[in-house]
Amino acid sequence: MTRRIPVAGPWITAKEVRYVADAAAHAWYGQAGVYHERFERAFADAVGRRLAMALPSCTSAIHLALMGLGVGPGDEVIVPDITWIATAAPITYVGATPVFADIDERTWCLSAESFEQCITPQTKAVIPVDLYGGMPDMDAVLAVAGRHGVAVVEDAAQAIGSRCGDRPAGAFGDAGVFSFHGSKTLTTGEGGMLVTDRQDLYDRALFLRDHGRAPGEKMFWNTAVAWKYRMSSLQAALGLAQLERLEELVARKRDAFSWYREALDGVDGVSLNPEPPGVFNSYWMVTALLGARFGLTKETLIAGLRERGIDARPFFYPLSSLPAYEGQAESLAARDRNRTSYALSPWAVNLPSALNLTHTQVHAVADALKEILAAAAA
Ligand SMILES: Cc1ncc(COP(=O)(O)O)c(C=O)c1O
Repeated sequence: MTRRIPVAGPWITAKEVRYVADAAAHAWYGQAGVYHERFERAFADAVGRRLAMALPSCTSAIHLALMGLGVGPGDEVIVPDITWIATAAPITYVGATPVFADIDERTWCLSAESFEQCITPQTKAVIPVDLYGGMPDMDAVLAVAGRHGVAVVEDAAQAIGSRCGDRPAGAFGDAGVFSFHGSKTLTTGEGGMLVTDRQDLYDRALFLRDHGRAPGEKMFWNTAVAWKYRMSSLQAALGLAQLERLEELVARKRDAFSWYREALDGVDGVSLNPEPPGVFNSYWMVTALLGARFGLTKETLIAGLRERGIDARPFFYPLSSLPAYEGQAESLAARDRNRTSYALSPWAVNLPSALNLTHTQVHAVADALKEILAAAAA
């Protein structure tokens, strides 16, 4: 049986195994926090932030960021309509309302114009998302946020290693958040990071993530009912080893993207992830957008690839179209408003982008894609 081509997966070397084995053997008692400290310090430096907090997921990082910013009932938080639901779910956790803004066709990320149109007196924060390693027009997004006094949490879950201008993904706004889920460029199996330059936000998150007690406070003496959001030493060790290899991980992603570009060169009506001037895209997921004229939906294309032994994923459905938000006034408004989200979403798929992907496999995927397109055109 030939091996299926997976859609995502990590690149683990002897270094990761060595660090994790060392953590398993030694990171206990007085050494329990050693790998967290090294991972957090190195991570903050890598993304140009003062402070970093290792967490069990990016979802928990967004939850803590919103709580740290004081977002709560009656507030609105703006997110792009095209993203994973984890960007928006913590808005509901804190009792606030998600507002779905449109994306910009030049970046596939939050449109600064749509963001501005969605602002109301209730708007407390915005969460721009660095989709698939791409970057929004950060200058424009930050200018709108600054003009209206809206806090910014950059969701860089998918974008470790990307840059906008001379600043790394995660360096923009009040806080940045990352995911280290097994599918990500840098993985700890499950895990996340909150980064910020704001001591107040960091201190509040530290308190909330440890059952309502600040480090060094009286033992078992909780001053609030809060959460338990901590990463394990084994994950921190894995994360540190991956971070020390970040350049080569991102280079591999960019190689895979360039192989796809070469393999799909000259195929009319297929475009890949945008990388506008000034952006360095880490291409977490190579994504093919088909012209609507093919009439080939993402679901049909994915089924065709699956028959050929290739796993792919659909471009995100607009959050406002999901049953999870059914009947909410905000999602109904967004369905009318977000033309670009609804225009792109049906026609795009994430192609295999695992870190162990080979040049030969990329050509096999491209050939399968061309075959499916030719059949659709016939
Ligand atoms: C854009 C985005 N935000 C947030 C998350 C949540 O990350 P996690 O699964 O680590 O909670 C993800 C996960 O894939 C994501 O893609």
